[in-house]
Amino acid sequence: MSDNNTIIRFEHVTKRFDNDAPILNDVSFEIERGKFYTLLGPSGCGKTTILRLIAGFMEPSEGSIYFNGKRINQVPANRRQVNTVFQDYALFPHLNVFENVAFGLRIKKLKNDVITNKVREALRFVNLEGYESREITEMSGGQRQRVAIARAIVNEPEILLLDEPLSALDLKLRTEMQYELRELQRRLGITFIFVTHDQEEALAMSDEIFVLNKGNIQQSGTPTDIYDEPINRFVADFIGESNIVVGRMKEDYVVEFAGRTFECVDGGFNKDEQVEIVIRPEDLEMTKPENGKLKARVDTQLFRGVHYEISAYDEAGNEWLVHSTKKATVDEWIGLDFDPEAIHVMRFNETEEEFDRRLEAYAETDEDEEEVVHVR
Ligand SMILES: Nc1ncnc2c1ncn2[C@@H]1O[C@H](COP(=O)(O)OP(=O)(O)OP(=O)(O)O)[C@@H](O)[C@H]1O
Ligand SMILES: [Mg+2]
Repeated sequence: MSDNNTIIRFEHVTKRFDNDAPILNDVSFEIERGKFYTLLGPSGCGKTTILRLIAGFMEPSEGSIYFNGKRINQVPANRRQVNTVFQDYALFPHLNVFENVAFGLRIKKLKNDVITNKVREALRFVNLEGYESREITEMSGGQRQRVAIARAIVNEPEILLLDEPLSALDLKLRTEMQYELRELQRRLGITFIFVTHDQEEALAMSDEIFVLNKGNIQQSGTPTDIYDEPINRFVADFIGESNIVVGRMKEDYVVEFAGRTFECVDGGFNKDEQVEIVIRPEDLEMTKPENGKLKARVDTQLFRGVHYEISAYDEAGNEWLVHSTKKATVDEWIGLDFDPEAIHVMRFNETEEEFDRRLEAYAETDEDEEEVVHVR
């Protein structure tokens, strides 16, 4: 249930155009006040559609959207406490920096001295003091981006929506702006909903990430939750580099893959259930062939600056990506060692709801068993 901290709530929201398949399919989530959220997913998964629904540029086909506890399905965009920074910034090329930022305030017919103060303050926030009379065409990509943010925050929105605002920038500027945006959000204390299809950007910036695919939320959680405990193949694959192989859960804490059995830390599966196993490349240690839990033959090796990225095939034919500071030799046999904690077991095609329910049920049976031990 939502509480006072919830600023936006989607309740079973579906969006379809004409009679086509839905673009968002029964989506429910809550956004808490003052946090940095990221919608992450591949092109066409529905990220911009969610922002449009929040901003009021379109209405849901089914379901409800709440803002501060009030249903806002029919509230027009100009009456919502929401501002958007678009991917192309949508600045006015014929207006200078000051007038771009002042635009919304002029529409509201505020007094000139009030407008001047507010615009100055907004520009100070984004470190563009002194740029008031510059033409937009004389500003760099990063500076334009900051003008777009100033134009949005000058209206003092409760929520700022940012639709891939960094995608046009080069890598260095992009990294700088990630840091600046995160700082800005902390200083302003308003809710940011940021859209990207770049997983590293999402991991670096967010309090909470929603991973989307084909109009559904696959998983929501903190960056570490999602990185360490991806609930299905899509999330594991989309977030970071992963080794994903098919295996079988023999019993709680015992899993079989690549023709061997291993100790692991997962439970709550059916006996002999087919599962998918994730091990991150940085959790695999390269050893001598006789010292590893698996033996594999090196196929390719790339130098990545901080580490070598080695691809090797085990005796069962699975490919393993290894990140190692040590160099390998193509065609040599190596050993792969890993801890039980590095093995992450996933049920096939499990949804977030099913995952939560299974974990709850498993936690309960685990407690019951402990009680039995006590009685004895
Ligand atoms: N007005 C519309 N009419 C019909 N289909 C639409 C309309 N707007 C969006 N779509 C479709 O809805 C799906 C989701 O679009 P959306 O813009 O939300 O994706 P996205 O996740 O923002 O993708 P990208 O990363 O490419 O910006 C796409 O398949 C798109 O073609
Ligand atoms: Mg989009």
